[in-house]
Amino acid sequence: MPGVSIKDKVVLISGSNRGIGKSFAIQALEMGAKKVYAAARDESKLAGLVEKYGDKIIPLTLDVTDQDQVTAAAAAAGDVEVLINNAGIGGGGQIIGNPDESAKRIEMNVNYFGIMKMCIAFAPILKANGGGAIVNILSVASLSNFAFAPGYSASKAAGRSLTQALRVELAKQGTLVSGVFPGPVDTDMAKDIPMDKASPDSVAIHVYEEIAKGSEDIYPDPFAVQFAANVQADFKAVEKADAAGF
Ligand SMILES: NC(=O)c1ccc[n+]([C@@H]2O[C@H](COP(=O)([O-])OP(=O)(O)OC[C@H]3O[C@@H](n4cnc5c(N)ncnc54)[C@H](OP(=O)(O)O)[C@@H]3O)[C@@H](O)[C@H]2O)c1
Repeated sequence: MPGVSIKDKVVLISGSNRGIGKSFAIQALEMGAKKVYAAARDESKLAGLVEKYGDKIIPLTLDVTDQDQVTAAAAAAGDVEVLINNAGIGGGGQIIGNPDESAKRIEMNVNYFGIMKMCIAFAPILKANGGGAIVNILSVASLSNFAFAPGYSASKAAGRSLTQALRVELAKQGTLVSGVFPGPVDTDMAKDIPMDKASPDSVAIHVYEEIAKGSEDIYPDPFAVQFAANVQADFKAVEKADAAGF
């Protein structure tokens, strides 16, 4: 699939009020995007972006688990050419150690069904606008289950499988479908993880550079590159190392 440059494009980013999503919004405009639909559950949290970038930022209220809000976003943003499914959630804890199913359902609803709802709503829009790109923010945790976040890992693995399915289904309409597999990134989500972390800006810039080349699988930081190589070399060794460190 041909690459998609962010320059002069209309972009929609879910969860753009903080963390990596906010960096996706800022870096899109810094790299020449025409307009960003900045989506957030609470639109008031987008005030800083609007103040800085004026009418290049269009705020949207969007909880990706709410079908009515997803439908309304698609109705409001019919000129989108690049869809970034960034919204994500963790915190569901262990399986046996924390047998609360509801937290795992929230992870699955946001990280899997949320992406699915967004893609169903926006696929026809991307088609009408020439194909464009869908960028799903997954995680290295989708490549092998992380023992401290097993439900999150499962939901991200489901998102990875969904990304493969979308790539097949949307090839005919010329939509590039990319999965992004970050390692630890310096945001609220990873604040309690005592590891070196990539900056959210560096992740956003790397992703835009890669989709411009047509990359389908994007490892945006050194940890991610190494982790993916380890999984490819010896999947069972990665699984055992994770279990040993637990
Ligand atoms: N940080 C990392 O180490 C890391 C590593 C790999 C992958 N990721 C992935 O990168 C993406 C961004 O994460 P982050 O690190 O920036 O985390 P973050 O700082 O916790 O931000 C998460 C964003 O997702 C939004 N969100 C959560 N549930 C939502 C829903 N139902 N509908 C719409 N928006 C929702 C949050 O909105 P509110 O402000 O309203 O809560 C927030 O804007 C996620 O998909 C995450 O899984 C992160």
